[in-house]
Amino acid sequence: MILPIITAPDRRLKVKSQPVAKVDDEVRRLLDDMVETMRAAPGIGLSAIQVGVAKRALVVELDEQAKLASEQEPVAPEGPHTTRYLINPEIIWSSEKIVFCEEGCLSLPDQFAEIERPADITVRYLDYDGQPQELQATGMLGRCIQHEMDHLDGVLLVDRLSAVRRHMILRKLAKARKQEQPVTA
Ligand code: NI
Repeated sequence: MILPIITAPDRRLKVKSQPVAKVDDEVRRLLDDMVETMRAAPGIGLSAIQVGVAKRALVVELDEQAKLASEQEPVAPEGPHTTRYLINPEIIWSSEKIVFCEEGCLSLPDQFAEIERPADITVRYLDYDGQPQELQATGMLGRCIQHEMDHLDGVLLVDRLSAVRRHMILRKLAKARKQEQPVTA
């Protein structure tokens, strides 16, 4: 089922999500809906809070060979993408190397900003079956996981910008939304 994606400004996007106690069928149904919603958007990652569920769960779907544009290497050709389900993710290692890359967010339509983050991470999480996993994520995959994990703590990419740029973007979004309201005559 495709769920509505919450866009900023919205208080729910500031909420710190709670750990998932048990990976059961209800959680798996949520994950399935999140993947369907992400594909329809379309996007390469989505966190549960973006569909209004304050649980520490996210999905990412991209080719792990994909390189960041800033790495000046060709992005891997379109191929079968790997869908990953990360529940209660924790970053247990991150590289000292920091890279800048332009990011977008389904909750901030049409807004992009250069964000700096560690180039590589190791993340520990529970998978779709509730099994513990560890993943070394570099390039676009590592970037995407870090972005989605920010959502679980109520952090949007605009929160990583200066206050001036943040307010500019949020004002633009609020204005765009007002214009979308149907006119009643
Ligand atoms: Ni996002």
